[in-house]
Amino acid sequence: MGQGRADLAIKNVFVFYGGSVLKGCICISDGLIAYVGKEANAPKADAVIRAKGLLALPGPIDVHVHLRDEGQAYKEDFFTGTSSAVAGGITTVLDMPNTVPPVDSGRRLLERARKARKAIVANVGFYSLFPPDLEGLVELARAGAVGIKVYFHQPKTKLNISDPEKLREAVLAANELGLPVAFHAEDPLLIEASSARAEGGPVEAFVSSHPPEAEVSAVMTLSNLLRGLKVHICHISTPEGLREAKKAGFTVEATPHHLFLTSDAHARLGPLALMDPPLRPEGAVRDLREALYSGLLDVVASDHAPHSLEEKMGPNPPPGIPGLETMLPLLLNEVAERRLPLAELVRLLCAGPADIFGLDRGRLELGGPADLVLVDLKAKTRIRATDFKSKAKYSPFDGLEVRGLPVITVVNGSLAFREGEVVAEPGLGSVIRPLRAGGRAEA
Ligand code: DOR
Ligand code: ZN
Ligand code: ZN
Repeated sequence: MGQGRADLAIKNVFVFYGGSVLKGCICISDGLIAYVGKEANAPKADAVIRAKGLLALPGPIDVHVHLRDEGQAYKEDFFTGTSSAVAGGITTVLDMPNTVPPVDSGRRLLERARKARKAIVANVGFYSLFPPDLEGLVELARAGAVGIKVYFHQPKTKLNISDPEKLREAVLAANELGLPVAFHAEDPLLIEASSARAEGGPVEAFVSSHPPEAEVSAVMTLSNLLRGLKVHICHISTPEGLREAKKAGFTVEATPHHLFLTSDAHARLGPLALMDPPLRPEGAVRDLREALYSGLLDVVASDHAPHSLEEKMGPNPPPGIPGLETMLPLLLNEVAERRLPLAELVRLLCAGPADIFGLDRGRLELGGPADLVLVDLKAKTRIRATDFKSKAKYSPFDGLEVRGLPVITVVNGSLAFREGEVVAEPGLGSVIRPLRAGGRAEA
């Protein structure tokens, strides 16, 4: 490449490319990366972005996002959710299926994807619940599901996954079609037993009925049953759970809130720091962060789970917080403070997610999709939830000062976000599907 004109050149940029940082120029043609290298050798371009020394990274993939919309559009919709993504420097999100109505068939997945397609400004892939019977998995794989999601503590599927044999059979069948199975791992019996003893207000009661042991016990059960299968454990919150999951050969995800906040925040912030699993005491958080620094995690994901402020401040606050606009700044801060190598951030947010879910994204390479984020590793900013593009304008990180800021987000070769504003037209994002044997990547 390098001959012919490019659509867009990003000049005076540092690029994380092939494992190291080089200074030069990135050119984009037809939504693909056409050139990376010295400015002197770059093709001419129709449009130019002067990046003034910003650092370009492959577009991050957030594998755990609740975009809502449809029956829950008042919490978040496809446009606001993906706007929140690109404002947070995220170019691809994987959407969770606990929607209204839920996603549990290929037909439902395609219907949801059709509604999303016109509105999204970031790329979106879709999970499904297990279908009511296993034959439905073929249709789901064909529809482009990125994986199956299991809520182990409150099965939402009509398939009887409380029966261990049935669950193993189901995971095997999904894996055979190339579908990884992602688990919210909490033991329903331990939640039930702890709920019976729980006291205090709604936040206190929720936290005490979702103890660390519920996670550890669920991971042990899954480890005994599914060792060696393609299983992904969502939002790990305990070091013991992480250890057991890794021993079983599972991939493991952690959220910024479980890495950077402790259970103290429950008393301080009440429902605005309520999520499932809840935050954990200092010791567990320290160990989890140590695991992040020593490369034991496979993915960091936000579990962006927006609810309306009225719901959060009401008598029965639902668990869940928005996270798309704080994840990358919080991790860039770890890089800026030299606790996390840049290559690790890229592995956890880009290449790792792409490998687990079989996506042709998350790498900055010639001929690949031009999904990029340009970050400023020196800029100090204060997280301001009232500025979020998400409908959920609150955050337990509100007011925190961080070093490292996404400044420009490029999706499919076009500007999606620039200096505080979402500039993409709805529909810039693509509905994505995994690369499976013989399959194409685009829907
Ligand atoms: O905090 C959470 N919120 N945890 C979940 O498992 C579900 C999610 C939601 O959908 O609100
Ligand atoms: Zn969950
Ligand atoms: Zn979730």
